[in-house]
Amino acid sequence: ARTLAVMTSGGDSPGMNTALRALVRVAAVRGVRVLGVEFGYEGLMEGRFRELTRPDGEGGPLVPEPELDASGQLGGTILGSARSQRFMTPEGRADAARRLEDLSGLVVIGGNGSLTGAHLLARECKTPIVGIPASIDNDIGCSASAIGVDTALNTIVEACDRISDTARAHRRAFIVEVMGRHCGYLAMAAAVSAGADAVLFREQGRGEADILQALEDLVRRNLAEGRTKRRVLVLKAEGVELPTPLLVSRLQERLKDLKGVEARGMVLGHLVRGGSPTHHDRMIAGRLAFAAVEAALEGATDLMVGWQSTVPGGQTTPDPYVKRYPLEQVLAETAALLDGSSPVTQRRV
Ligand code: F6P
Repeated sequence: ARTLAVMTSGGDSPGMNTALRALVRVAAVRGVRVLGVEFGYEGLMEGRFRELTRPDGEGGPLVPEPELDASGQLGGTILGSARSQRFMTPEGRADAARRLEDLSGLVVIGGNGSLTGAHLLARECKTPIVGIPASIDNDIGCSASAIGVDTALNTIVEACDRISDTARAHRRAFIVEVMGRHCGYLAMAAAVSAGADAVLFREQGRGEADILQALEDLVRRNLAEGRTKRRVLVLKAEGVELPTPLLVSRLQERLKDLKGVEARGMVLGHLVRGGSPTHHDRMIAGRLAFAAVEAALEGATDLMVGWQSTVPGGQTTPDPYVKRYPLEQVLAETAALLDGSSPVTQRRV
């Protein structure tokens, strides 16, 4: 029987388990055995494989393990994840390639670092390697959304709603920092749906003085005596170099004369990376996993299956929202997305 390996790699994101469950089910229907690789590329180099399917009677179909079945609704990843330095060396990748020699393919579920690793490995081994975009940051080229983004956004919006309750009770300005590494997408998108008054992200290229002046003006405009508005909410992406506690204390200092008005800060951090995946994340996880299995079993390699939120023109695949992209193109688009030179950035903003 053919055997596929699958791993989750880099920062986990809600929906990774849903992708695993879907992948095993799709493979099972095709009589393909699935081995889960524990702890990403680290586990691959060490040969830490774990059977994700078991034979259901002699020669019968393979069925998912109950644990895998139930995990589709859980955040995190049942396989464990890791960021590996050693895999980035040729020696590390040679170890990984040896572990894959007898397999029909490897599916890598992860973000930019993981997909960069997948691209390097695909060029150095014969086994088909297929990537699935999963990261809360939404900083991956050739995919309108990645697995985990929608759940993270819902968590951020809920947190902002709660913070707004208490902010309004005290006439406060709140700066809420969210993850995203170098990408401001989570801050931008959440700012729209949480009804924020301003958003700060690295790509704006603003200096400290400019930011502070703008925030001071914003608070004075909205919370000064005689104004009816009672909360100011600012979404800040982690890519902005100025640390949130420092920004808050400098802003507070500038607002000293404004009686009864205070600034507060909150870094949501890893809170936003956990939790049960939303319908949207489960739905794209299932469809991307399906497409990844098909691609790997066809022997296609060095590619990622990407999610398209709109379909320009005619239908080209069984699922018009899922397309295959060479990893080289994905990584080039990712770089352009982050340095602002790509029109893709405009599409996202
Ligand atoms: O890439 C996902 C992410 O959560 C980023 O938003 C963040 O910058 C980074 O991972 C945090 O990494 P770690 O979990 O290793 O602290």
